[in-house]
Amino acid sequence: MVIGVVHGPNLNLLGTREPDQYGVTTLDEINRSLSSLGAELGVTVEAVQSNHEGVLIDAIQAGRGRWTGVLVNPGGFTHSSVALRDALLAAGVPFVEVHLSNVHAREPFRRQSYFSDVAIGVVCGFGAASYTLGLRGLVARLATSTAGG
Ligand code: DQA
Repeated sequence: MVIGVVHGPNLNLLGTREPDQYGVTTLDEINRSLSSLGAELGVTVEAVQSNHEGVLIDAIQAGRGRWTGVLVNPGGFTHSSVALRDALLAAGVPFVEVHLSNVHAREPFRRQSYFSDVAIGVVCGFGAASYTLGLRGLVARLATSTAGG
């Protein structure tokens, strides 16, 4: 099983970007912890980050037929991108939406997501752990559906 991990804009700055909001863990550290958790859970993790909506959409399209599920932090696109939502729907595989911060405890515009209603689950507010919790949930769900449940 290959799981695509999609990181949206500005997440390349993790570690130094608004540490009070997003913590001090870098994107590389997050990707490394997802890879080692993936190995533990028996899945391969393929991560992509871009500040460009079209690049993220191309990556999701390239994952069609190969990615069994997707873990996505759309960053600021969470609150704006119909096109990224459509790309995930077109991929036709389950996805989990994750956020480092608790988007519901911040500015009102962050409460609106173009992804939550079509995600199988949403994890937010746990910092870098949102990703590992999300991966665990996604793999558990995939294991259930593969087993026919
Ligand atoms: C974020 C929350 C978004 O509102 C914000 O634009 C981000 C990061 C998070 O992980 O908490 O870039 O997705």
